[in-house]
Amino acid sequence: MDFKDKVAVVTGGANGIGRALVEEFLKSGARVASIDLDREAAQDLTSRFDRNQLFFMEGDVAIESTLQQFAQAIRVQWGKVDYLINNACISRGGIMTPCSFDDFNTVLRIGITAPYLLTVLLQDSFTDQASIVNIASTRGTMSQPNTESYSAAKGGLLALTYALSISLAGRARVNAISPGWIDTTNDPASFSSADHLQHPVKRVGHPSDIVKMVFFLCSEASSFMTGENITIDGGMSKQMIYHGEHGWTYQPPSEGTEPR
Ligand SMILES: NC(=O)c1ccc[n+]([C@@H]2O[C@H](COP(=O)([O-])OP(=O)(O)OC[C@H]3O[C@@H](n4cnc5c(N)ncnc54)[C@H](O)[C@@H]3O)[C@@H](O)[C@H]2O)c1
Repeated sequence: MDFKDKVAVVTGGANGIGRALVEEFLKSGARVASIDLDREAAQDLTSRFDRNQLFFMEGDVAIESTLQQFAQAIRVQWGKVDYLINNACISRGGIMTPCSFDDFNTVLRIGITAPYLLTVLLQDSFTDQASIVNIASTRGTMSQPNTESYSAAKGGLLALTYALSISLAGRARVNAISPGWIDTTNDPASFSSADHLQHPVKRVGHPSDIVKMVFFLCSEASSFMTGENITIDGGMSKQMIYHGEHGWTYQPPSEGTEPR
């Protein structure tokens, strides 16, 4: 993909999927602005790229004044925004941990409020072809026990995607990607063969699977798409599971450990 002279903003760009996005946008010729809490990982990244191509800010997207500073720095540094990729998120568990009032709100501030506020702050800098891509999760629409903070943030991010796609109609396209299990470890030994083979496509995902869809959603090729959520999970969320079928067995939790 050729993104020469484009400007991409990526939150949480120091590690994992965000880092892959930053690196691939830079390779494609774009200029990138990113923000992350992880100073060490960010320094490793910035040391490999030209300051005229990559602007990196150490900061917490859960803090309003930090987002204001970041947006102002982007305006000064690049003067426009073609692509906004809201990627940063965390989990603080849920009702069984339990996740406290502050923990829950922190996850929502990172996962929903920051994408909203960054959009508000950057909207006047959007170019004609602007595209926003929100990195949600299959956990926005399906769940394991004790994931309320993360699931709520991701479900809210999907709703925010639909709402913004209408409010920004004609000014920016707004889509979401819901990844399934994406290996950000770069360590094949951390996965069993069952981890891979349980997926209908027979492998765990890779950050490049997400990068490719982000690039498609930023490109002219997706110009008729807005308000959409694309699931990239190797088919896991489409797999119907019944005890005793296809090698699957259900083992009831022992008494006393079952959630009430
Ligand atoms: N990896 C997966 O299996 C998977 C699956 C579904 C969805 N996702 C989503 O993809 C996105 C990236 O996930 P990942 O696996 O690469 O995560 P990661 O933890 O490897 O990277 C997230 C980055 O965001 C940064 N970050 C976290 N909180 C921040 C804050 N408050 N302010 C600034 N930066 C902050 C972290 O420092 C880190 O560099 C997240 O939204 C995640 O929910 C990931």
